[in-house]
Amino acid sequence: MTFRASVITLYPEMFPGPLGISLAGKALADGAWSLETVALREFGTGKHRQVDDTPAGGGAGMVLRADVLAAAIDSIGEEAENAERPRLLMSPRGRPLDQAFVRELAEGLGAVIVCGRFEGIDERVIEARGLTEVSIGDYVLSGGEPAAIVLLDAIVRLLPGVMGNDQSGTHESFETGLLEHPHYTRPAEWEGRTIPEVLTSGDHGKVERWRREQAKRLTAERRPDLMPGGQVRGGEK
Ligand code: ADE
Repeated sequence: MTFRASVITLYPEMFPGPLGISLAGKALADGAWSLETVALREFGTGKHRQVDDTPAGGGAGMVLRADVLAAAIDSIGEEAENAERPRLLMSPRGRPLDQAFVRELAEGLGAVIVCGRFEGIDERVIEARGLTEVSIGDYVLSGGEPAAIVLLDAIVRLLPGVMGNDQSGTHESFETGLLEHPHYTRPAEWEGRTIPEVLTSGDHGKVERWRREQAKRLTAERRPDLMPGGQVRGGEK
C-alpha cells in the first residue's frame, strides 16, 4: 500500500524540494509513497486567476476565497480512496504536530494537504470540506509549504520499508517519550575529550541503563513537560 500525498499550493514548484532527496527521495522513487501537487492558481477566477480577496469587515491582508479552494479540493475527486484520506490545512492555528499524530497519519492511506498563504482562508471552506488544521509549532511561516514538507518528511520515514535500520526509529526522541541519550563514536579521544567509560565496557546491560538514565536526565532538564506527570507546555504562563 502506497501512502498518497496530494498537496494543494500556489507554489507547486516548491515540491518535492527536499522530499526529492535522501531517504524521502529514495522512498518516492521506489514507490513507497506518491506525491501529486494541485496548482491552486488554476482554480482562480477571472483573467488573472485571482485566488484571494479583501477581508469581509475590513482590515489588512487578503483572504483565500472559499470557492477557489473548494474547487481545487474537489478536483481531487471523491473516490473511496480519496474520501478516506484526511484533509489537512497547514496553519499556526492548528493541532500541534507531534510524533503520535505523525504515526497515526503514516498508518493511513495518505493525506490531502492544503498550504495556506495570505492572512487567512475563508472559514466556510474549512467547515464545508472538513479541513483539520495542523501546526508545526508556535511561530508563523510565510506559507504552509515548508510546514507541509516537514509533515511529509516526518510521515515518510515511518512508512514500511523506508527506514533502513528499523531499530534506529525505536530509540529516538519522542518514540520512547523521552529525548535521546548522547551519542559518541571514534576517535576515542578528541580535543582532549574522552568517551564515557561505560560505553566501551562491553557490558550491554550497563550501557542500556546508562542510556536510559541519560535520556531521563536530558528530558527532565530540557523538556520537563515530557516527563511523566510533567507540566503542560505553556502551562507556566
Ligand atoms: N503556516 C504558517 N505558519 C505555520 C505553522 N506554524 N504551522 C503550520 N502551518 C503554518
